[in-house]
Amino acid sequence: MDYIAKTAALNKETADCVIVGLFNPRKLSPSARKLDSLYRGAITQACQRGIAKSALGQAVTLHNSNRSKHAHIIVVGCGDKEHFSAHAFQKALSAGISEAKKCNAGTVINSLVEMPIMQCDLQTRVQASVLPSKAAIYRYTHTKPKAGKACHSLKKMKFLASQSSELAILRQGKKFGQAIAAGMNLTKDLRNLPGNICTPAYLAEQALALKDEYPQLRVTVLEEPQMEKLGMGALLSVSHGSVQPAKLVTMEYRGGPSDARPAVLVGKGITFDTGGISLKPGSAMDEMKFDMCGAGSVLGTLKACCAMNIPLNVVGVIACAENMPGGKASRPGDVVTTMSGQTVEILNTDAEGRLVLCDALTYIEKFDPETVIDIATLTGACIVALGHVPCGLMSNDELLVEDLYRAGDLTGDRTWRLPLWDDYQSQLDSNFADMANIGGRWAGTITAACFLSRFTEKYRWAHLDIAGVAWHSQGKQKGATGRPVPLLTQYLLSQAYPSGH
Ligand code: BES
Ligand code: MN
Ligand code: ZN
Repeated sequence: MDYIAKTAALNKETADCVIVGLFNPRKLSPSARKLDSLYRGAITQACQRGIAKSALGQAVTLHNSNRSKHAHIIVVGCGDKEHFSAHAFQKALSAGISEAKKCNAGTVINSLVEMPIMQCDLQTRVQASVLPSKAAIYRYTHTKPKAGKACHSLKKMKFLASQSSELAILRQGKKFGQAIAAGMNLTKDLRNLPGNICTPAYLAEQALALKDEYPQLRVTVLEEPQMEKLGMGALLSVSHGSVQPAKLVTMEYRGGPSDARPAVLVGKGITFDTGGISLKPGSAMDEMKFDMCGAGSVLGTLKACCAMNIPLNVVGVIACAENMPGGKASRPGDVVTTMSGQTVEILNTDAEGRLVLCDALTYIEKFDPETVIDIATLTGACIVALGHVPCGLMSNDELLVEDLYRAGDLTGDRTWRLPLWDDYQSQLDSNFADMANIGGRWAGTITAACFLSRFTEKYRWAHLDIAGVAWHSQGKQKGATGRPVPLLTQYLLSQAYPSGH
């Protein structure tokens, strides 16, 4: 799909379809009004007959003659103007795009970007437009090549500027959007791969492949003997149960001043989680190939950073291992020593994410980070708490929380904070080590974060539990999402351009 920004009047520009919006109660957007007068009240009539609705996500196609400048007009409901968020915008646009696919449209004029979104400028709206349109045509093909046969006609999305001064804004939004979409697609591809292909070594190779694509990236891969030397007893205790060796991969992108402290992203990269000796039940265990989704988002976000040449220093670290119940696997009750020197009693080998992350979080101290965000499919409890809507956010820094909330609002890729109060810490008490790796039945998402918090005291840190948002579990939709790549990239943009773009 190509994205085109140009200065042109809607009534002069040809396209297979135009997507326009309605706010409640059936209020026509400026472009909708223009088309309405061009086509003798077609939209007003559709509203009066109740065919066109303004409820959020309702879309209808009005067909013109094929010889018309605009063969189809897609009218999309945008709900209440005062509640029109970036998230609502993407929902509305997705509905419009699926109508455009039904019409076999090749070229689409996206006039929805004129709809005012709370807090979002035009550039952000254009940026946000790229994501649903790319998502609508994404296909996983690595182990199912036939799925790649073109199943849609969409070729071009046009954004029209009314004055030439707007053009630069449209172009910038388009560029950022395409960079984020490219990052999301990489993330999805890696996540969707099965565990027999996507091993820790495979993820390390993909990081090196990214470096080939973007030579400004520096990639280093730590092997198990080096981890041993560094004292990463927790990380290694996870990979020992598997024949696949662990890999700790660092990707350094230096787009900012050489002395500027980097934003560091740390991803959980369990390429398959059987639970280890504390074996998981069989149903839906295949979904534990998605336990590397945190690592996948770090790779995707770094790709987005490279593609948009963000003027910021960003370091991505992925802790990759496979959690298997082999002969060298940890037993419940085993005690390991982490790189930080603290000891951990492994009461449940299925709480392995925090074990690989804690050593990675100590390792990255060497980058003197400005901020650290870890991303992990850490707890099933997060799905119980928040469902599949926001990712769980826990942090030791108020400003970082604010910045992440704002990035979520701008992209529709939202988070919600859970408390990290000291009251929960005692759930990790152990008689045999500095802490246990599980905190009992209650508040499992928070006690997992409490565990991590003991390794992140030296810097500003946020933890994103993406267990509920990283993939869809069922039906035709089953497969990876690209979340939270938009959230992370937008956060980094906010650091690179502190006062807007
Ligand atoms: N990868 C899982 C968490 C998970 C489970 C994410 C299902 C998404 C869907 C993690 O390693 C895990 O097994 N966590 C345990 C922790 C428990 C043993 C304290 C869990 O959530 O049950
Ligand atoms: Mn587990
Ligand atoms: Zn896991």
